[in-house]
Amino acid sequence: MIGVCTHLGCVPLGQAGDFGDWFCPCHGSHNDTAGRVRKGPAPENLAIPPFGFTSETVVRIG
Ligand code: FES
Repeated sequence: MIGVCTHLGCVPLGQAGDFGDWFCPCHGSHNDTAGRVRKGPAPENLAIPPFGFTSETVVRIG
C-alpha cells in the first residue's frame, strides 16, 4: 500500500496506532495491516498501487 494518509496527505507511522500497523499523528487516523481505515478522519483506505505477476516468480508493483 502507499503510505500517504487519505485525509490530508501526511505520512502515517508504521507499527503504531490502535490496530497495530498505521497511525497518522496529524489528525489521528488509524489503519489496520491491510490499510483499511478503522478510526479517525481519513475518508478512504490507504491506496493499493497496481501490481501483477510478470513471470511465475516476479511481481511488479507500480
Ligand atoms: S492527514 Fe492523516 S489524519 Fe489528517
